[in-house]
Amino acid sequence: MERLNNTRGALGALQPLGSAVRLNLAGAVRTRLRGYTGWRGAVNTAYDPLDPATAAQPFDAYRALHREGRVHYNPKRATWILSRLVDVRAALRDTDRINSSQGVTRIRMAADLVVLTDGEKHSTLRKQVQPAFTKRALDSWRAIIEEVAEELVDRVIANPGCDVVSELAIPMPLRVIAGLLGVPDEDIADFRRWSEGAVQIINFTPTPGGIARVAQSARATMALRRYLLSQLGRGHLKGSETVLGRLLEHNTDGTLTDAQLFYIAVLLLIAGNETTTNLLGGMFDTFATYPDQYDRLRADPDLIPMVIEELLRFLSPIQNLYRYTCADYQVGDVTIPSGSRVLLSFGAANRDPEAFDDPDSFRVDRNPRVHVAFGYGAHMCLGAPLARMEAEAVLRQLVSRVKGIAAAGPTSWSTNSSLRGPTRLPVRLKTV
Ligand code: HEM
Repeated sequence: MERLNNTRGALGALQPLGSAVRLNLAGAVRTRLRGYTGWRGAVNTAYDPLDPATAAQPFDAYRALHREGRVHYNPKRATWILSRLVDVRAALRDTDRINSSQGVTRIRMAADLVVLTDGEKHSTLRKQVQPAFTKRALDSWRAIIEEVAEELVDRVIANPGCDVVSELAIPMPLRVIAGLLGVPDEDIADFRRWSEGAVQIINFTPTPGGIARVAQSARATMALRRYLLSQLGRGHLKGSETVLGRLLEHNTDGTLTDAQLFYIAVLLLIAGNETTTNLLGGMFDTFATYPDQYDRLRADPDLIPMVIEELLRFLSPIQNLYRYTCADYQVGDVTIPSGSRVLLSFGAANRDPEAFDDPDSFRVDRNPRVHVAFGYGAHMCLGAPLARMEAEAVLRQLVSRVKGIAAAGPTSWSTNSSLRGPTRLPVRLKTV
């Protein structure tokens, strides 16, 4: 495997996450130096997804983007922005001209990971993870998910005014993933600490503070690696209903090494935890804000699967990801030059008035099937059925046991530029 460009110093700390991760800082500098101050046809914008206040409440900015034009360019960030549903979907499909091989965040990077590859390499890596998400696998996890949902909803009901983010939205996906990876109950506290540390790697920024955080994250990743490799070494996972058990079962030609199995486990932690937390926390905030819609749902629980799609559209737990163009890329009258950084705004696309009627209102009967909360095309979320199943389990508990969801204090929202969800939300659940 290739090594990091900078294997010395703090960046070397990224190595445990796969010596395959290669940051392309030169590419980032090139993008900035090129510094287009405008581009004919594209509308220059000051919309800045990195501004914390905008990240917490981006919806005014999205309305302005939709009013102003089809393609935007932010010169300060050297970033092109697509905000229309049709354009975001088209870009996600066109992996020959605009793709993930140079990264999906603001920092250019390359690695042999399913999210950061395209074409044949991507298909091979995706096929390695896919056996973990078959229908049989999902069915086998239903019982764990329902049990965790019941226990956590019980806890929130019993503690009126508690913070539903720390009591339910954070532990739910973490406990489910721990169960799926075969982590026994007695190890869950350690596993949680290491996982939370390890996933901080996605918040990497090339600043002194950012580099220090990466070093901490790398230590947690090493601890998690030692733990999971020792679990694999014990041999009891083979033939089990766990994710690693399934991957081992399909690994008959021995192509997956223990190290690769570890990367898959970390990938699932990174991809599946904070995203699902954002969906679950956002769900409580939405129903506290729209009690009439909660009443409609209680009157007709068959709407639940459709409501989860509307929650995904309305909340967009991942507000945006990036792509880089590897050829000139045409959107309407605008040509985005090869080598550009392009922000695909899932959050704006999911509130595009050309695609959704009255997009800023939450409606339990909307059925917005074309939303892009799970992406679209070749990289569409592999864990979508799992996330839906977790949301459904919690919502079924609520609808059958809770007649009203009330906020017991203001909701605080994350200020991360890509992942958005409540960070604190005190609630009171009124039982039936
Ligand atoms: C509400 C929760 C979730 C949301 C909103 C979400 C969203 C997304 C999005 C937008 C993508 C596309 C990335 C891209 O196009 O570059 C994606 C990919 C992915 N997701 Fe999720 N996700 C969620 C939960 C999960 C869970 C629970 C797992 C697994 C445990 C998971 C595993 C993955 C993986 C492995 C990919 C990469 C697929 C590929 O590149 O081919 N996700 N997710």
